[in-house]
Amino acid sequence: MIMKLAPSLFGADLFDLRGEIQSLEQCGVDMLHIDMMDGNFVPNIAFGPDQIHMLRAKTRLFFDVHMMVVEPERYIQRVAAAGADMITVHVEATHHVDRCIQMIKECGKQAGIVLNPGTPLSTAQEILDNIDMILLMTVNPGYGGQSFMPKMLRKIKDAREMIGARNIDLEVDGGVNDLLLKQCREAGANVFVAGSFAFKGNVKENINKLNKAMQD
Ligand code: DX5
Ligand code: ZN
Repeated sequence: MIMKLAPSLFGADLFDLRGEIQSLEQCGVDMLHIDMMDGNFVPNIAFGPDQIHMLRAKTRLFFDVHMMVVEPERYIQRVAAAGADMITVHVEATHHVDRCIQMIKECGKQAGIVLNPGTPLSTAQEILDNIDMILLMTVNPGYGGQSFMPKMLRKIKDAREMIGARNIDLEVDGGVNDLLLKQCREAGANVFVAGSFAFKGNVKENINKLNKAMQD
């Protein structure tokens, strides 16, 4: 299974965004995780299609857009047009998750679903054959810098088992550092979001630690 690192823009120093993104590129990271928050699905507000569009002109990193937005179907086309490569929607945020996945695919993008810590895996069951990724939240979404919930390790194991032979990435997001990355990897995850751990202090050193944890 291919391991991928997805540093989260939410944790970056926006005053030095050029430097932050250059550091990621120089470290050869696989993707940039971009959090969209609408102040409604989660109690915080972050990046929208215009910011994604602006970034798209500046970097060739793969954009993994995590939509924490009520009724994401209202924005999927704009997010796709702005330059997302992968779009993930929360199953809790829409009545029509299958339609959302179809919309993302019709835009020619990879599609994934996201589950909050309290949401059972069974909500993913019926759409497994249509998605490229499952993102398991390992904190309640909305803020960076929260503590990883250890009981999510069991959920990661169960999700990998449910995925079986299908070609679906399993991503984890929230409180991931190098040690926890390794535990998530052992449980079956293969895509790792890191916000505060990636950007606090020396970015290249942090990314190297995360890369090492992905490999050994
Ligand atoms: C939180 C976001 C995360 C956030 C992770 O709701 O979805 O992507 O940036 O930050 P850390 O790694 O600090 O928990
Ligand atoms: Zn996220």
